[in-house]
Amino acid sequence: MIIKASTDEDAAAIIELHKQVFGETEGESVARLVADLFQNETARPLISLVATDEGLVVGHILFSPATIEGALNCSGVILAPLAVGEAYQKSGIGTALIREGIESVRKLQADYVLVLGDPNYYQRVGFRAGHGIAPPYQIDYPEAWMVLELNPGTVSTIKGKVRCAEALCRRELW
Ligand SMILES: CC(C)(COP(=O)(O)OP(=O)(O)OC[C@H]1O[C@@H](n2cnc3c(N)ncnc32)[C@H](O)[C@@H]1OP(=O)(O)O)[C@@H](O)C(=O)NCCC(=O)NCCS
Repeated sequence: MIIKASTDEDAAAIIELHKQVFGETEGESVARLVADLFQNETARPLISLVATDEGLVVGHILFSPATIEGALNCSGVILAPLAVGEAYQKSGIGTALIREGIESVRKLQADYVLVLGDPNYYQRVGFRAGHGIAPPYQIDYPEAWMVLELNPGTVSTIKGKVRCAEALCRRELW
């Protein structure tokens, strides 16, 4: 298994992976998110990593830019989406994509990484809830809205609403 930055040639396989992994209810919506983020030049810099097995795309992670209203001296990213093909799950690929992704995000000098996801999963890699950054929409499970601080001391001082890429700012995704 190899983790690398995705290329334009991987786009179709990545979109297909998300459709399959997120299934009937969410697949189309997540696939559209990925396609929109790939196409929209305003969502830059974009960090897009794939996990491949014998040339096959088996996992994918995407990070797009975020800022906080009232705290424009800091900047960060939002992790969304992450998917690992069903047959390849529970072998550490998701965790490896998150860790490699975070290393790439650090190189952008980002202050934080935000994610909306399962706390049990993301807490294992250091994300935590209970911060002052509000999501773009009200969410049913506030504990699922987590942050990983990369620049120590920045997140504790932030209070404000996140501004994310337009493609991510769709109610159905939150
Ligand atoms: C969530 C997902 C990315 C995990 O990928 P993965 O490669 O299987 O993850 P890893 O192998 O690194 O970690 C697996 C561990 O996480 C646990 N785990 C997986 N999904 C979890 C979840 N939603 N909540 C809590 N724990 C979870 C597994 O039980 C396993 O635990 P173990 O190591 O104690 O056995 C993958 O299951 C997936 O693509 N799911 C569908 C799409 C999705 O939900 N994406 C995340 C959206 S935020």
